[in-house]
Amino acid sequence: MQEPEVHEPDEVRGAHGAHGAPEADEAEATRREAGATESSRANRGWWDRNADEYQIEHGTFLGDDRFVWGPEGLDEVEAELLGPSEELKGKDVLEIGAGAAQCARWLAAQGARPVALDISHRQLQHALRIGGSFPLVCADAGDLPFADGSFDLACSAYGALPFVADPVRVLREVRRVLRPGGRFVFSVTHPIRWAFPDEPGPEGLSVSGSYFDRTPYVEQDEEGRAVYVEHHRTIGDRVRDVVAADFRLVDLVEPQWPAWNTSEWGGWSPLRGNLIPGSAIFVCERD
Ligand SMILES: C[S@@+](CC[C@H](N)C(=O)[O-])C[C@H]1O[C@@H](n2cnc3c(N)ncnc32)[C@H](O)[C@@H]1O
Repeated sequence: MQEPEVHEPDEVRGAHGAHGAPEADEAEATRREAGATESSRANRGWWDRNADEYQIEHGTFLGDDRFVWGPEGLDEVEAELLGPSEELKGKDVLEIGAGAAQCARWLAAQGARPVALDISHRQLQHALRIGGSFPLVCADAGDLPFADGSFDLACSAYGALPFVADPVRVLREVRRVLRPGGRFVFSVTHPIRWAFPDEPGPEGLSVSGSYFDRTPYVEQDEEGRAVYVEHHRTIGDRVRDVVAADFRLVDLVEPQWPAWNTSEWGGWSPLRGNLIPGSAIFVCERD
C-alpha cells in the first residue's frame, strides 16, 4: 500500500472539535467569547496533544475503515447520506476534520477518490499509521487549499463545524471547492445538548442552561489562554448558516439511539440517547 504524505500548511487559522473529548489537563472550563484565531490555535493544540488518547478510546468503535456519523453509530452503509454506495465509485470526495481518516478509508474501499483534511498533524499521523492510498492534508477547514470545483462530494463527521467561530466561512469554502450538483453532509453535536450537562447519566437529563446562550465553551489555562473551544449554534442558526453559504438544505437527520449500541461516548449514552437527540446531520446541496 502506498504511504500517503502529510502536507503541512504554511499557517493555520480556524477551529476544532470534540466528540466526547478527554479532559484537558488542569484546564478551567468556562463560557466566554473566543474568536476564530484563538479557537483555531487552541483546538489545533488540543487535538495534537489528545489525538493518541482519542484514538485509543474511540478507535475500536469507529473502526479503521467504517464511516460512522456519530456516537449513535449511524453508519453510512445504511444511511447513504452521500448517495447510494455503488454511485461513489470514481467520485472525488473531501473529508473535513477527518481525524484518523476512517471515513475516507471506507470511501476509498467503495472506489471513491477521497482526500482527508484535518487541522491536527497528530490526528493525521494516526491516519498514516492505519494506512490508505489517498492524500492527507493538514489545513484549516476555513481556508481550504484546493481549487474551485475540485470535488463531487464533501463530508464531515464531527469535524471542524462544531469548533469554528465562523461556520459560514467553512461552509462557503466547502461550497467553493465543490462542483455544481455537489453535496456536503456534516454531523455536529445536536444543539439541544447545550442546554444539558455533558454527563451520560441521570444528571445529564435536567436542563441546566439556556439553549439560546451562544457563548462558546472554553477550557483555559492559568493564564486565561484557551486550550480547547467549542462553539454553540442553535438549530435555526445552523439552517441560516447553510443558507447563507448558498447551499440548499435537503435533509436534517437526527439519528435515534439503536438498541445494539450499549457504549458510552463522553456525554452520549443509551440512557440519554433514548430520550433526546445527540447528533444532528445536515445534508446540503450546491446548485
Ligand atoms: C471529533 S474529531 C472527528 C474526527 C473523525 N471524523 C472522527 O469521527 O473521529 C474532530 C476533528 O476535527 C478536527 N478539526 C477541528 N477543527 C478543525 C478545523 N478548523 N479545520 C480542520 N479540522 C479541524 C480535529 O483536529 C479533529 O480531528
